[in-house]
Amino acid sequence: MRKRFVSQMLVLPIAFVVLLISCSFAQSAPKQSPDNDWWKHAVFYELYPRSFADSNNDGIGDLRGITSKLDYLKQLGVDAIWLTPCYPSPQVDFGYDISDYENIDPTYGTLQDFDAMEKEGQKRGIRIIMDFVLNHTSDQHPWFIASRSFRTSPYRNWYVWRDGKGPHEPPNNWNSLFGGPAWQWDAKTGQYYYHFFYPQQPDLNWRNPAVEKAMFDVTRWWYKRGVAGFRLDAVDTLFEDPQLHDNPVLPGKNQYGDPNEENKYDQKLPQVHEVLRALRKVADENHAVLIGETYTDNLQQLKQYYGDNQELQMPMDMMLGLVNKISAPAFRHQIALVESSGGWPVYVMNNHDIVRSYNRYGDGKHNDAIAKLMAGLYLTLRGTPILYYGEEIGMENNDPKRKEDVKDPIGKLGWPTNKGRDGERTPMQWSDSANAGFTTGTPWLPVPPSYKTHNVAAESADPNSILEFYRHLLALRHSNQAFIEGKYVPLNEDDPNVLCYLRQSAGQTVVVVLNMSSSARSAHLNLAGSGKTATTLLTTMQQAPKQAALNDMQLDPFAVYIGSVQ
Ligand code: GLC
Repeated sequence: MRKRFVSQMLVLPIAFVVLLISCSFAQSAPKQSPDNDWWKHAVFYELYPRSFADSNNDGIGDLRGITSKLDYLKQLGVDAIWLTPCYPSPQVDFGYDISDYENIDPTYGTLQDFDAMEKEGQKRGIRIIMDFVLNHTSDQHPWFIASRSFRTSPYRNWYVWRDGKGPHEPPNNWNSLFGGPAWQWDAKTGQYYYHFFYPQQPDLNWRNPAVEKAMFDVTRWWYKRGVAGFRLDAVDTLFEDPQLHDNPVLPGKNQYGDPNEENKYDQKLPQVHEVLRALRKVADENHAVLIGETYTDNLQQLKQYYGDNQELQMPMDMMLGLVNKISAPAFRHQIALVESSGGWPVYVMNNHDIVRSYNRYGDGKHNDAIAKLMAGLYLTLRGTPILYYGEEIGMENNDPKRKEDVKDPIGKLGWPTNKGRDGERTPMQWSDSANAGFTTGTPWLPVPPSYKTHNVAAESADPNSILEFYRHLLALRHSNQAFIEGKYVPLNEDDPNVLCYLRQSAGQTVVVVLNMSSSARSAHLNLAGSGKTATTLLTTMQQAPKQAALNDMQLDPFAVYIGSVQ
């Protein structure tokens, strides 16, 4: 049986009031103010245009489809959407291979559709963030076509061309992240070019000032069009060692059968930070935000991307989202780490490259409760969250069952060890009608059978659904001062099962209690001087009192409890 959020009689009305307050904000959304810090209190939502909403029923999502769903996003509590790339592209890597940075791919619409979406977003106070793929272009981009046409082409030095070490021998041992050597032989001009990703994604040469200028101008072009910032793709890989030293080889082979290596000379080179600082200046002039695709392993690396507030405002911290086990101590540790970074935390549980959190954290029995638990965690922390479309309805991965169905080239190459990323990119589930109401055509990827129960229409009608939980939680986040600006104060730091903390602002204190176990647990919170009871704001508990005694809280398995402390 599904759990209730709270004793409905008592708390749902409260949550509902909260929701009403936030909706009335929505209606009178002010024109975007030139506030450089707007992103700190915004909720971001990553949206995969190909899979979100299909307005012309060709089986592929499009910009008009997105525009038609802006009210849905507003009601959910979204303030900014990050669109994965929708520029013209041969779609080898589904848009991450761009052939024109200043247009829209006809599959998704036109620049006029973009402008209309942007305008409708503005009306609702929803900003647009574009994905900026700056490490590489498509091999069909005119710059690369010119670059490979002859050795003395003025564009030759826009990409990374090198002679082989010897006949049929690439310049060094670097591997592509997507399998095989990172060097592609070009018979016409008799040299190799470098590609960290697919061969159809040649790396730009960021040591060439002309490249830097052209790419900076792209950002200015979109700022003028009204975008509020960029998600910078693959920033780790912008620069390579000019001496082309071999990477140290590590034991074992990777999923493509290539030798493992340490990315010492092809990732996270210091010059990346110079580019980020310069991009940040342009962003600041435009009151824009820079989000980084930054896969960091430790605090030191994360701090470098904040760069003393001179680089990325929002380096994506995947370390919390990829803890990959429900563990109070592991999450506590990770939160403390980011809190100590000196930067504004950015939390992400899902994206278009990783298996959905519903599967990674779900135990097969309590998946919906766990989905709420994870939301109860990362949406109540200090910092900015980035949601991924569909997580708010508990969408699950739908991996291809047969190799011939795979669309993502990594899945074709890595099958069956790596089935690719199709599973986390399936169409948004709007209703229980055919193809989850995404299209009346043939969807480019199939929806999982769970769309019958996990869809927007069904969950909107169910007060205990994951979607309703997200809505209430985001409304609370937007309206409660402790959530807006309060500091994070960990409590009961040696509890192995229950994660609890306060969010505390000058005038308000909220307690968040999360039972990270499949058994009922109790928590005893002694808040010296700060209060002994909490007024319930939102909970998944079946029997939640209006007032909870903090020194003796009884928690259902995987329960979320949020209360205002007196
Ligand atoms: C980033 C994107 C991923 C893409 C890759 C190459 O990691 O998130 O989807 O394949 O860059 O652009």
